[in-house]
Amino acid sequence: MANLLQLDSSPRGDRSVSRMLTKEFVNTFQLTHPNASIVYRDLGRFPVPVVSEDWIAAAFSAPTDYTPAMAEAIRVSNELVDEFLAAEYYVVGVPMYNFGIPATFKAYLDQIIRVGRTFAVDESGNYQGLVTGKKMVIITARGGTYPKDTPYHAYDMQEPYLRLAFGFIGITDIQVIHADNLMAKGEVRDQAIAHAQSALKDAITHW
Ligand SMILES: Cc1cc2nc3c(=O)[nH]c(=O)nc-3n(C[C@H](O)[C@H](O)[C@H](O)COP(=O)(O)O)c2cc1C
Repeated sequence: MANLLQLDSSPRGDRSVSRMLTKEFVNTFQLTHPNASIVYRDLGRFPVPVVSEDWIAAAFSAPTDYTPAMAEAIRVSNELVDEFLAAEYYVVGVPMYNFGIPATFKAYLDQIIRVGRTFAVDESGNYQGLVTGKKMVIITARGGTYPKDTPYHAYDMQEPYLRLAFGFIGITDIQVIHADNLMAKGEVRDQAIAHAQSALKDAITHW
């Protein structure tokens, strides 16, 4: 049975374009995978904690050395990692905030990128991603647009960062769909959304 994890990170509700598109993605995915199990996590409305000193101490210690505070801090991370690892497919909705990702999504990445759980380091100091054989679609929502061969391309710290962070833990089969130009009005905005809707349907047919 296909197991899909849907992550939203916009704090907005009905006005959120990334939310609308991840929902549409899941609805279409369910048509081709009627028995799929969908797990939903709303990072925008229910943010996960930022890492603390106890969290960091626990992440680099054996459970036998945990204090009660360390055990509690790492418990949330363990639940998030378990949920993340249980999925084979991911659809991730991420607004662009100040050329990068929202703080809520960064807090989530800090919770799930864990040595010994999602990546390993060998004796020579080489890193190895442990989350292999997965497929991911990232849907971004952005006020502007950052096309290649323009000066604005370098402002996009969102797609390169997400590819790097998920690639680091082993997820390399990633399609990124941008809903751009959302600050525009009328036809330009409508076309940008229609383009993303068509791209997400296409992505599902290639899964
Ligand atoms: C705090 C904040 C920062 C933003 N920074 C950028 C930005 O750097 N570049 C951009 O293109 N759009 C930026 N935007 C616009 C959002 O990316 C856009 O409104 C998008 O639709 C938000 O996603 P959502 O519709 O899913 O909520 C920003 C919006 C907010 C609220």
